Amino acid sequence: MTDTIILHRPDDLHLHLRDGAILSAVAGQSADFARAIIMPNLVPPVTKADAIAAYRARIEAACPAGMAFEPLMTLYLTDDTTPEDIDAIEGVAVAAKLYPAHATTNSASGVNDIEGLTPVLERMAERGILLLVHGEVTDHSVDIFDREAVFLERVLDPMRRRVPGLKVVLEHISSAVGVDYVKSAEAGLAGTITAHHLVIDRNDLLVGGIRPYNYCLPIVKRARDRVALVEAATGGDTRFFFGSDSAPHTDPKKLGPCGAAGCFTAPVSLPILAHVFEEADRLDTLDPFLSRNGARFYGLPEAETTITLERCAPYALDPIETPEGPIAVFDPGFALTWRLAPGA
Ligand code: DOR
Ligand code: ZN
Repeated sequence: MTDTIILHRPDDLHLHLRDGAILSAVAGQSADFARAIIMPNLVPPVTKADAIAAYRARIEAACPAGMAFEPLMTLYLTDDTTPEDIDAIEGVAVAAKLYPAHATTNSASGVNDIEGLTPVLERMAERGILLLVHGEVTDHSVDIFDREAVFLERVLDPMRRRVPGLKVVLEHISSAVGVDYVKSAEAGLAGTITAHHLVIDRNDLLVGGIRPYNYCLPIVKRARDRVALVEAATGGDTRFFFGSDSAPHTDPKKLGPCGAAGCFTAPVSLPILAHVFEEADRLDTLDPFLSRNGARFYGLPEAETTITLERCAPYALDPIETPEGPIAVFDPGFALTWRLAPGA
């Protein structure tokens, strides 16, 4: 049994940092990561190159002094995005995010007419800008637990056929169907997996009382879906890599009568992943999942520096205090027994 794990400094390829006081409170929580893909679902959303550059500067200002962290920026796609908007983000953003309108937090300005976006997607393919997809339909007649599967069939597959040169990341895969879809693609498709989708299922959300801190989108699904996600993450398939979808919401937003979706996992992602990969007896695949598979898919240089995790006495983390209220750190349902080695 090993008591230390040495990893290349990892990438979080899907992260919500928010803005203002919340950004200041959470930015330092990603300090163990070399880079992160930053989500653009602010209010108002980040829909133009100049807004992306300004947001990047606010993130850099919010990071504690000495934090070596590179925010990789993204554009928020709307029905009004043009191919020229894509031209303008070259060198400013690495990807653009597709939120189907009203699919999740701050997605009201997202896309209604996905077919109408084809010229924009074609320009992205030409320029090597990746498409990051929130893969759920919003049709009220579709059950929330089926929304990912229906999206793949109705929306994503036809879109990938229309624009075959586009590199697509299916974000926060939440189902066995999603895993199988990524595996079925010959090229140009990868998937991110969160820490929370690896450790909770819908029983952890709904049995014995409703547990708002376990509410996220895509919603956590059956135990067998969680098992499929663990197999995908730990199995060494290079098409799967880590994107935390760490999504901070204050208690007033999370615990109200209509609680916000999102799990704040940034401070506990690495200990949770070490636990999951050790349980699967696949600590050998943790490093590629965290720092190689995603970098290669994105065409980014691979980190050369390392971090060290060490086994430790069981612990849990207190909420992060902010002027807008506390932000609870995601509780995986087991005590954390890995931490970053001091000075590492
Ligand atoms: O749970 C989620 N929270 N899923 C998303 O897609 C968005 C995110 C957020 O921004 O809070
Ligand atoms: Zn997200």
